Amino acid sequence: MAFTLTVNGVAKTVDVDADTPILWVLRDELNLTGTKYGCGVAACGSCTVHVNGEPMLSCSLTAADVEGAEITTIEAVDGPVAEAVRTAWRELDVVQCGYCQPGQIMQAIGLLNETPNPSDDDIDAYMDGNACRCATYHRIRAAIHAAAAKVEG
Ligand code: FES
Ligand code: FES
Repeated sequence: MAFTLTVNGVAKTVDVDADTPILWVLRDELNLTGTKYGCGVAACGSCTVHVNGEPMLSCSLTAADVEGAEITTIEAVDGPVAEAVRTAWRELDVVQCGYCQPGQIMQAIGLLNETPNPSDDDIDAYMDGNACRCATYHRIRAAIHAAAAKVEG
């Protein structure tokens, strides 16, 4: 079945089953492999993308669910908040193996869009669904505070 999806600002038509998770549309049909498969059951956050600007789990949305929506992936997310998050992640050396990090970054951008100056509790609550096997949680929290300070100037 053909679906037209807007991905990173570009309309793309894909021919997939209606119940295909968009995680696989992005990775297998559109070659956008920055979005990662971790669990496939909404339990790890590795597959987080933005749908109409909100972080959502791409393993749990189908092509039919997102037809007509704006999907943004780690490859193209931009703007002052995204730039501040990327810079803070680099400066604080957040990444260890890296596998979970696209999802962490997409979720962190969502948090700062919603709550520009989050407390530790805000961060822990909002980032709760994003697992990191390398346990980079303390650096993620510090980088979110650093990014918030950069955006505030
Ligand atoms: S792969 Fe989607 S939440 Fe784990
Ligand atoms: S950096 Fe390795 S899983 Fe998070």
